Amino acid sequence: MIAAEPSRLQKLALRWFGARVIREYPFEEMFFLEQARAVRAAVRMPLVLLGGIVSRANVDRAMAEGFDFVALGRALIADPDLVERMRVDASARSRCTHCNACVAEMDTGGVRCVLDGPRPH
Ligand SMILES: Cc1cc2nc3c(=O)[nH]c(=O)nc-3n(C[C@H](O)[C@H](O)[C@H](O)COP(=O)(O)O)c2cc1C
Ligand code: SF4
Repeated sequence: MIAAEPSRLQKLALRWFGARVIREYPFEEMFFLEQARAVRAAVRMPLVLLGGIVSRANVDRAMAEGFDFVALGRALIADPDLVERMRVDASARSRCTHCNACVAEMDTGGVRCVLDGPRPH
């Protein structure tokens, strides 16, 4: 599902009141694993595990837990070569800091990782 783009008013309201109404969720690797396990146990179909997959160790664990695929979001924005690195190196992991700044970057000319420095003009 693709979320609808918030209006200017919604963005302004979020900027003013967001910190007061939205809880902070500290990052955890494989943060949907517990809920996804319940789905894995309930259905017989291929499943993709998503959320906080940042390393080859995470991928190996997902496969061992019975998932068929993993999906990577921020880890691939930070490290487009990560899948190839994971293929050849069991210790490979993303440099992503989970700052979520790439979400805001979408409004300024397209998704990119802020670890790559300022956007070229
Ligand atoms: C830049 C960016 C844009 C995203 N856009 C959407 C979106 O339009 N719809 C959606 O359902 N999830 C969106 N997501 C959430 C991702 O699909 C994914 O659920 C989330 O990033 C967790 O996975 P990760 O820990 O591998 O990043 C977006 C995430 C990022 C970082
Ligand atoms: S901007 Fe932040 S969250 Fe997004 S990919 Fe880069 S380090 Fe990760």
